[in-house]
Amino acid sequence: MIDTKSSAELDNFLADCRQAFTAGALQRLVLSKYKGADVDLNRITIRPVQIKDQQLLSFLYEYRTNHVTKNFAIEEAIVQSQQSLGSDFHNAHMITDEWETQLSFSKKGKVLVNKNRNKNSAPSSDTRDVQPELAHNRNKLRYVEQDRPYLRELGITDANGQIIPAMSRKWKQINKFIEVLSTAIQQTGLDKRNELHIADFGSGKAYLTFAVHDYVSANLGVNTQVTGVELRQGLVDLCNQTAQKLSLNGIKFEQGDVQHFSAQNINIMIALHACDTATDYALNMGIRTGAEIIMCSPCCHKQIRPQLKSPALLAPVLQHGIHLGQEAEMLTDGLRALLLEAHGYDTKVFEFISLEHTSKNKMILAQKRKTPRDNSEILQQIADIKAFYGITEQCLETLLQN
Ligand SMILES: C[S@@+](CC[C@H](N)C(=O)[O-])C[C@H]1O[C@@H](n2cnc3c(N)ncnc32)[C@H](O)[C@@H]1O
Repeated sequence: MIDTKSSAELDNFLADCRQAFTAGALQRLVLSKYKGADVDLNRITIRPVQIKDQQLLSFLYEYRTNHVTKNFAIEEAIVQSQQSLGSDFHNAHMITDEWETQLSFSKKGKVLVNKNRNKNSAPSSDTRDVQPELAHNRNKLRYVEQDRPYLRELGITDANGQIIPAMSRKWKQINKFIEVLSTAIQQTGLDKRNELHIADFGSGKAYLTFAVHDYVSANLGVNTQVTGVELRQGLVDLCNQTAQKLSLNGIKFEQGDVQHFSAQNINIMIALHACDTATDYALNMGIRTGAEIIMCSPCCHKQIRPQLKSPALLAPVLQHGIHLGQEAEMLTDGLRALLLEAHGYDTKVFEFISLEHTSKNKMILAQKRKTPRDNSEILQQIADIKAFYGITEQCLETLLQN
């Protein structure tokens, strides 16, 4: 039995759902924390769909081993949501064009609501700034819900769904990564596709690979095939076993070197902390397959530094090894960003998470332009920068010329 205040909060939330359904403003509504009788049901994702000129709501029922979709007319969808909330589902997360609302039931049956403007609808901020960190309070909206089964399987949460303290940095990183990806997916319109193909090069222990698969398939309700490519066979086997254990058919891991891997029809190419020029090979593959989103966080910049000839004016500054290393890193990633721009991508370089959580915090995010643009000026800029620093070869540039 819930108290009067909680009952009013619930009614307000349901009224907001009705308003969003009827006004066509709903992006998605996720019902989670299932406590009902069906032991296999995890959650429901509700999204608007247009079927033969009729505006319906698609309910994606996510079971332990399979997904089932049912479409409802708006009134029926409202009844379904009303019946489910509070009794079967103890959490709801609604995203509309304007608002993002999180509703949850406390153990004592109190209804907690947190409503914020949907910041993805707002104009994007200067991406060269550090992106704001997620706050630590428990009402803070997160892109990833703590109760997701893969988090427990990968050792990020414990049996009660609580973050294991030693994994809190990884947890923040996953959330920030999905937040950035989510904005890019909406901006490129990939959330409207029926199916997406995603490749993660240098997938390692695959925290992000599982997170991406879960976000796109469960939160966005888009069929997704994710392939993690990893050099180390042991990790590939481990990750495939985890996918099997979780009955995830849309995710697989292959042993391979990104240098020799060939991929086709990738929509989203991810390479996080793939070492040195592995990042260049991944970027090259993303560009060549025409990926709409390319997301990489480079590390171990080794190729450019030995080539650098300090320009006379900068020699007193670059005489210090640490500065030379920083300059080489900036030039490597700056040239990568320019090459992406020259090959049809709007590109941003920014710190995606504060240094406190990881030192490998730079992200290059590229989104494919809808219309091609003349690239001669950018190619000239690249040539000028290389000449200025005496750089003879940059791996991505070489790969793109072949
Ligand atoms: C630092 S880990 C990052 C793992 C994961 N992307 C993450 O961010 O959590 C880098 C991974 O890339 C793999 N790797 C490095 N070079 C590679 C290559 N040429 N092809 C495929 N995998 C590579 C390594 O084995 C390692 O597991």
